[in-house]
Amino acid sequence: MKLMIIWGSTRQERKGGPVAYWVKSVAKRDKRFDKVDFVDLRELNLPFYDEPVDAFSIAKPEDYTSPEGQAWAERVIKSDAVILVTPEYNHGPPAVLKNALDYVGNPWIDKPVGLISYGGRVGGARAIEQLRSITIELGLINVANAIHFVRFSRTFESGEEPSEVSNESLQKMFSEIIRLHTAFSKP
Ligand SMILES: Cc1cc2nc3c(=O)[nH]c(=O)nc-3n(C[C@H](O)[C@H](O)[C@H](O)COP(=O)(O)O)c2cc1C
Repeated sequence: MKLMIIWGSTRQERKGGPVAYWVKSVAKRDKRFDKVDFVDLRELNLPFYDEPVDAFSIAKPEDYTSPEGQAWAERVIKSDAVILVTPEYNHGPPAVLKNALDYVGNPWIDKPVGLISYGGRVGGARAIEQLRSITIELGLINVANAIHFVRFSRTFESGEEPSEVSNESLQKMFSEIIRLHTAFSKP
């Protein structure tokens, strides 16, 4: 199956790279995924949503008015499941991540989604709570257990991979994503 990982921070000198790249590297080593598409929203550089209708009213990628929208929808269609890696900005996800989610409608439906956050005292948990309602509205299927990195820069300051517990949590998330994908792929 094909996994898409979306990293939600785009600002200059962003600090969440070790979290996002850890998820990417563990996923790439996992033989259960045929392909891992890592989406750095800074590179994707989507404009703010400017379509004349909502994304669920756009039947196919060619119907986007912008080439960026068409390309993003085509990329989402190619994935079977998604992991969002997000910082917490003022108790929510960054606007760029919300924008990337808003951009697509039907292609999100029935894709499992795992949520991973990093931040200060609560490890981005409030951003995850908002992402839960947003992703439910989009038709994504939530994996129950999110992963949070509290005071994340300390976790990664040695430059090494995070703890065994975090690695086990990520493995559980992968297994649950695969289980949900199998369940929702049945005719
Ligand atoms: C606009 C903004 C708002 C922030 N709000 C929060 C917050 O609500 N909770 C929190 O734990 N950290 C907050 N922070 C601190 C971030 O956790 C920290 O800057 C982190 O490095 C952001 O991830 P990034 O560097 O990958 O963008 C905020 C940072 C920014 C830039």
